[in-house]
Amino acid sequence: MTIAYNERSCYCGEVDSARIGQTITLCGWVATRRDHGGMVFIDLRDREGLVQLKFNPETDPPAHETAGRLRSEFCIAVRGQVAARPESMINPRMRTGQIEVNVREIDILSASETPRFLVEDDINTSDELRLEYRFLDLRRPRMQRSLITRHRAVKIIRDYFTDHGFIEIETPFLTKSTPEGARDFLVPSRKQAGSFYALPQSPQLFKQLLMMSGFDKYMQIVRCFRDEDSRKDRQPEFTQLDVEMSFVQMPDVMTVAEGYLVRVWKEILGVTLPTPFPRMPYSQALAEYGIDRPDTRYDLRIKDVGDIARKTDFKVFTGPLDKGGAVRCIRVPGGADISQSEIEKADNSLQNMLKGIGAGGLPYVKIELADGKPTFKTGVAKFFSPEATAELCERVGAEPGDAIFFAADSVDNVCKFLSRLREEIARRRNLIPAGLWNFLWVIDFPLLEHHAEDNRYYAVHHPFTAPMDEDLHLLESDPLKARAKAYDVVVNGVELAGGSIRIHRADVQSTVFKLLSLTQEEAELKFGFLLKALRHGPPPHGGFAMGVDRLVMLLCGLDSLQDTFSFPKTAEGYCPLTLAPSPVDQKQLDELWIRLNLPAKK
Ligand code: AMO
Ligand code: AMP
Repeated sequence: MTIAYNERSCYCGEVDSARIGQTITLCGWVATRRDHGGMVFIDLRDREGLVQLKFNPETDPPAHETAGRLRSEFCIAVRGQVAARPESMINPRMRTGQIEVNVREIDILSASETPRFLVEDDINTSDELRLEYRFLDLRRPRMQRSLITRHRAVKIIRDYFTDHGFIEIETPFLTKSTPEGARDFLVPSRKQAGSFYALPQSPQLFKQLLMMSGFDKYMQIVRCFRDEDSRKDRQPEFTQLDVEMSFVQMPDVMTVAEGYLVRVWKEILGVTLPTPFPRMPYSQALAEYGIDRPDTRYDLRIKDVGDIARKTDFKVFTGPLDKGGAVRCIRVPGGADISQSEIEKADNSLQNMLKGIGAGGLPYVKIELADGKPTFKTGVAKFFSPEATAELCERVGAEPGDAIFFAADSVDNVCKFLSRLREEIARRRNLIPAGLWNFLWVIDFPLLEHHAEDNRYYAVHHPFTAPMDEDLHLLESDPLKARAKAYDVVVNGVELAGGSIRIHRADVQSTVFKLLSLTQEEAELKFGFLLKALRHGPPPHGGFAMGVDRLVMLLCGLDSLQDTFSFPKTAEGYCPLTLAPSPVDQKQLDELWIRLNLPAKK
């Protein structure tokens, strides 16, 4: 008996009460099998969900006999009749929970080895194993949902941008370095011995050239490559929605980006996002949240208390202040109930977490009522005079029952420690309300930052970002004060998109290259083609890029980027499925003029 599996009636997850009485054909994978006093129940899974199959030894002995041989992840086809479930068996949480299928015929299309993990959501398996068996991992409902959502988000991109007059244009992968702050992936050239292509970190320069070519509105859904350590929100290859427009100012580009986000949140989540998104200057983000991608869903804002700390004789405070550093703090309402163990003793204490990112410790005080006044207890309480205590309580709005956590170090480090502490306390104390979408634009970024290691300026965004017109003169006199025409979309603490108005004047571009320590020759060598194009009537232009993977991560409520990719890499940039990257034959190396110079094996 063979079932015409190509004449499948519908997906497993789509069988509903409307089909009661019908004879249908289904295909899928065995999710679970239960034997109940002779009756065998199978949950059959496909991309749309599960359906319950029933095998009755009385009415259909051959099918029942075959069902006895089924194991997890066997691929099967069945024919049977849809029936209403008995009242007691109805599962209101399942789309197919009202019905079951009385199977008359079954074909085992293929068997499966015993899977190394259960194909279910919320399983506890190592990432390594999940990626090695990614084809099984992807059968999990959550993974199917993620990749299907990704497809929908990308479809909405194409619809939205087509509706708004954008043209999708492809740009090369085998190209020259585009600086976005990461290391390049290089591809050796066989025909040009000793030369290398770089895989693009973004299509930045090509999209600018396309503006100079007169396309006016460009978009592309494009793979980008950055050789940096993978993290929870990073992969070495990832996808951008890349956009560029001519004859625009910042608000024009921002409106287009908002419009897409509004549409995708509405169509996929049914959520109406209020626009325009709030705007927050970079300086405020750093001062109050310690980070340029603030999560504003919870308060715990940072307060500068350097002037009060100065009045203590606590070396941990005064030391960094003497060196131009800062003392800042976070008040945790009700935080006096955080145990000493959780603060500084336990392995996973807050202090240890901070030491892990370079902090010297975690000074703190708890606040109690004594003699009718808020008084500091425990921790570094002894360093505060009654006056300093009162001043500090006033500054941070502290009340009895609260705790205050301090960081004292360079300004950059204080921001790093307190932003991390904010996130951690919010997570541990469940301060993050569910269902909140806090979109905001971070604006007024500085154009440049200075790195002490090599004593030079780096572009905060990329070297093609335009300075604010009113700050142009600062490029000569006080470059660090110059602000950029740049903007980032931040959602619940995730940097989702970023962009800028670009430099469209060759002289300004040359000045910025000079500030970035590029000699004229180096600038010509690396970006000669851009400078040349800038001498041929470039239009004013600007755009943005949005991380599609991060978008899907947010839409699906995932906490890791990895699950938005079909076949991602581990944190080491390794693919446990294909074992890439892997050594190649000597012949291939010879063709590429490459001789290896490997480190000695440990
Ligand atoms: P930027 O470098 O900010 O800007 O990148 C834009 C967006 O791409 C996403 N993104 C990543 N997603 C996953 N893994 C990564 N390693 C990764 N790196 C970046 C983020 C980020 O907001 N050319 C400019 C854009 C422009 O100016 O138009 C650019 O690439 O969501
Ligand atoms: P101590 O005086 O060493 O008992 O430290 C008092 C408090 O200051 C403790 O809570 C420590 O976590 C914190 N602390 C000590 N050294 C440092 C440091 N270098 N940086 C930041 N905090 C520190």
